[in-house]
Amino acid sequence: MPENSIPKEAAYQIINDELMLDGNPRLNLASFVTTWMEPECDKLIMAAINKNYVDMDEYPVTTELQNRCVNMIAHLFNAPLGESETAVGVGTVGSSEAIMLAGLAFKRRWQNKRKAEGKPFDKPNIVTGANVQVCWEKFARYFEVELREVKLRDGYYVMDPEQAVEMVDENTICVAAILGSTLNGEFEDVKLLNDLLDAKNAQTGWETPIHVDAASGGFIAPFLYPELEWDFRLPWVKSINVSGHKYGLVYAGIGWCIWRNKEDLPDELIFHINYLGADQPTFTLNFSKGSSQVIAQYYQLIRHGFEGYRNIMENCHENAMVLKEGLERTGRFDLVSKDHGVPLVAFSLKDRSRHDEFEISDMLRRFGWIVPAYTMPPDAEHVTVLRVVIREEFSRTLAERLVLDIEKVMYQLDALPSKLPPPSLLPTTAMLARKKSELETQRSVTEAWKKFVLAKKTNGVC
Ligand SMILES: Cc1ncc(COP(=O)(O)O)c(C=O)c1O
Repeated sequence: MPENSIPKEAAYQIINDELMLDGNPRLNLASFVTTWMEPECDKLIMAAINKNYVDMDEYPVTTELQNRCVNMIAHLFNAPLGESETAVGVGTVGSSEAIMLAGLAFKRRWQNKRKAEGKPFDKPNIVTGANVQVCWEKFARYFEVELREVKLRDGYYVMDPEQAVEMVDENTICVAAILGSTLNGEFEDVKLLNDLLDAKNAQTGWETPIHVDAASGGFIAPFLYPELEWDFRLPWVKSINVSGHKYGLVYAGIGWCIWRNKEDLPDELIFHINYLGADQPTFTLNFSKGSSQVIAQYYQLIRHGFEGYRNIMENCHENAMVLKEGLERTGRFDLVSKDHGVPLVAFSLKDRSRHDEFEISDMLRRFGWIVPAYTMPPDAEHVTVLRVVIREEFSRTLAERLVLDIEKVMYQLDALPSKLPPPSLLPTTAMLARKKSELETQRSVTEAWKKFVLAKKTNGVC
């Protein structure tokens, strides 16, 4: 912290100037998260920026808006609710928090059942595909649950329901299916998983439930694929998370967890606190948080309604197809994403002998595009993909422009010598050991240089 104050205009200018070096969020095709909202909603967000959501007694209308969102989303996911019944769910900071809460509820329910049966309850496990987002690994590590991952294989990049059910045993607290894999947008077959688990549960007497991680797909499937059974229509689906800040169309900072009914959320996980004058039931990991995102979610739900969300999702899907067909026309790529799923396009080079996907990603940065390249999880690590997420504001013109820029990049790469070594020149183990020590030397030089520069600084803002 600097010792002295500076004028507010100077503070603003310094920070604003530095932030100019960040990428442009609208061209960040790496992210599922919303980067554009209508100015009317921006106004509501700014007006609520100083409201702490947890002061529910002081801001009862905001609390009411969250409850209405929970109800609308639960109905969208076909929760079995009676006429006057309210849905069971909670607003969170994102899908990660929602998944921690859902996982905790499964763990506690399983423990309670095992205790009542007089059986050991110290080795819970959870079954997922190796394609799960990192938040599932976090859940497993933070809350001491063994993570059993179904490995991927060439050409099949989602969890295989048959293998998943084979991994289930009496200590499995739930199987997590993804509606919209982070890697290639593909929907996992939740219906098949439900049917296979139903048979296994009937045969063993276990009651292994399903959680659907619909972080991206939860606001897509109901509009684009209403016939697809993936939600509470399937009896073993007990909870679902969705990110309001992805296809829920709200800026970063909101997710939802919805439970099938009250029995699926153990009461002892809900805290009743007497705070600022009233009894408040809470089931969240954090206490204070902003209210703006809840209000923004409510805005989007009532502003667009079912019709508006369907139009937006159809539009995203069409733009994904424009991009996909443009890439296919180049003849240079294999498509790794499916037409059916989250509107994204994941693709790999057909010929990687001279250049790889990481070079394409780097070179696209020069045109302003941020397109990530990454390798697939086990056992498909040898596959590298580039992924473009199509969001609401990514227009057809931008899709066409991106294809043109990718063609330019390919043209430039063709003219460049390959950076990849021929197989005969691949380093031996001994060479790798030597390389590592060179790298270490470089690191220590950088460290020394950094120390020298810092020592020269006289204040905290230069
Ligand atoms: C399938 C899946 N689950 C969970 C998450 C985590 O979501 P959040 O960023 O809302 O915490 C993501 C994020 O990309 C995701 O794709």
